[in-house]
Amino acid sequence: MDPLEPDVFTTKTKELTPSEKQKLEEQNKRGLVSEFKANKLEIDAQRNWDIFYKRNETRFFKDRHWTTREFQELLDQPETEGGKRNLFEVGCGVGNLVFPLLEEQNDDKDSANRFYFYACDFSPRAVDFVRSNSLYDPEQITAFQCDITTQQVHENIAPGSLDVCTLIFVLSAIHPHKFQDVVENLWKLLKPGGLVLFRDYGLYDMAQLRFKPGNKISENLYVRQDGTRSYFFSEQEVAQLFLENGFEVITNAYVHRRTLNLKEGIDVPRIFLQGKFRKKST
Ligand SMILES: C[S@@+](CC[C@H](N)C(=O)[O-])C[C@H]1O[C@@H](n2cnc3c(N)ncnc32)[C@H](O)[C@@H]1O
Repeated sequence: MDPLEPDVFTTKTKELTPSEKQKLEEQNKRGLVSEFKANKLEIDAQRNWDIFYKRNETRFFKDRHWTTREFQELLDQPETEGGKRNLFEVGCGVGNLVFPLLEEQNDDKDSANRFYFYACDFSPRAVDFVRSNSLYDPEQITAFQCDITTQQVHENIAPGSLDVCTLIFVLSAIHPHKFQDVVENLWKLLKPGGLVLFRDYGLYDMAQLRFKPGNKISENLYVRQDGTRSYFFSEQEVAQLFLENGFEVITNAYVHRRTLNLKEGIDVPRIFLQGKFRKKST
């Protein structure tokens, strides 16, 4: 997918056309997913992601080379007095975000900007893929399995020790009732002034409009064919989530991005939500 035009950043929610409104209404036609099935999806969440990685191995997600462009903080802060800064990638999958960053810092030996990386995922298989990557070096990175909605993470990372947490297309895979648990955990792990870098699906992204009747669990929450779930975020609710849990909002906006799917020859407009949130110092 190649971008057609520069990305547009806005805090305005996309206005739906009449046919898009109709698509969203049609999603309710067969009612919402039953409570029984919705509960089962929550119980099976880890299993479903693990099966996802069994099927797709390392082929599904592309390396995320845009991260340093979008999040300058990853580059422009020098090491702190205590040595390396610590970055934690939550829901790392097979490492498409951490390994390009690690490679970049290995290529630039003079860089004053060095991270120690932590990476966790729900899926044991995904973590195995990270650990067996040729770039995996315990001197530079620790990967571990954990459910970020629980207290498990505190067995692996010391409180108040992180400079940056990245949450990239992960919160959308978690039930909205547990968003607050995730943000509370990140708050405990970050140093005062530490940053959360967030990017995920935005409200009315085309992936949301494409869901068929029978896949809607609740407002803006859907289940895919493989049992994994996807939530679509409004700018206001993400701001509120971080503000209410001890962060300040540095930036937070929808990113409208037009890409060309060369294989299908179609122009695909995407909407993501991208934000930076700083743990308050007091
Ligand atoms: C859409 S993938 C994104 C992977 C990666 N961040 C990337 O951008 O390529 C979502 C990831 O979140 C993980 N995940 C889902 N729920 C989780 C949870 N409760 N705790 C930790 N990871 C979770 C999944 O296993 C999956 O690898």
